[in-house]
Amino acid sequence: MNYKNKVILITGASSGIGRATALALAKFQNKIILTARRESLLEQVSQEIIKQGSECITYVGDGRDEAHAEFVVQEIVKKFGKIDIALLNIGIGPPSNTLTASAKTILDCMNINYGSLINFYVPLIRQMKKQKDTCMISHMNSLATYFGIPMQGDYTASKGAARLFLETARMELEHFGIKHIRIQTLHPGFVDTEAVKNDGIPAPNQISEEEAASFILKGFRKEWKENRFPFGTSFATRIGRIVPLWLRTKILLAETPKNF
Ligand SMILES: NC(=O)c1ccc[n+]([C@@H]2O[C@H](COP(=O)([O-])OP(=O)(O)OC[C@H]3O[C@@H](n4cnc5c(N)ncnc54)[C@H](OP(=O)(O)O)[C@@H]3O)[C@@H](O)[C@H]2O)c1
Repeated sequence: MNYKNKVILITGASSGIGRATALALAKFQNKIILTARRESLLEQVSQEIIKQGSECITYVGDGRDEAHAEFVVQEIVKKFGKIDIALLNIGIGPPSNTLTASAKTILDCMNINYGSLINFYVPLIRQMKKQKDTCMISHMNSLATYFGIPMQGDYTASKGAARLFLETARMELEHFGIKHIRIQTLHPGFVDTEAVKNDGIPAPNQISEEEAASFILKGFRKEWKENRFPFGTSFATRIGRIVPLWLRTKILLAETPKNF
């Protein structure tokens, strides 16, 4: 899908991949709407976007809050009449340990990664069904979505849930003959953002935020249902999905630090 002169919502855009993608899209005369909790960072991103020739509006709020998501979608529609692309990028993935983590920590990860997706998805799909032109919901998933990974139990569970939900949404759009809405999931490998620096999780084949953004823009253009990148990590994940569980466990544990 084309991303010039579009109305584009990006959630979780104050830093990292969301910020880099917003800046990459700023060169194409878009109307870009950003959300996150850290107001001053959002403001900085907004200034940079405007300098590059796109419009920008920011909404400060927590993706776990259903009312915030509903408000943001309604405000965009009031101002611009439509939403062409929604990049739902909110997410956290600190290292965790299934043997020691509290229920609150585990469920908070689910609530931020999966809950925020659902909070935005519901008003977005309601709005997009009313539109006629091609539009897209693109969710920031991960290559860590296909199987359990040590140190990332809560994270993989939340991303797996999101992937299955959107896979179903895509099938149901087809079933009900709704042809203009694209549902895409993005599956980066390791991306060098502040959030994951020094988190102790091994990160082979890591790419920069800017590289991630350019893979994302290419995926928008090509309208891939699942945009997996970069190639090396994506290929390794593909192999990981087909090898027997005992072998996958052995490989993953070989990379896992002894104490975490
Ligand atoms: N870095 C990687 O290696 C990697 C790999 C695969 C997938 N991903 C995914 O990419 C996405 C971005 O990650 P990143 O590495 O770029 O980290 P990041 O810089 O921390 O970006 C996360 C964004 O989400 C926002 N956010 C977090 N919790 C929120 C909440 N409760 N409500 C509203 N906004 C919230 C943060 O903004 P505020 O804190 O200002 O609210 C921030 O803008 C995540 O979904 C992550 O799972 C990352």
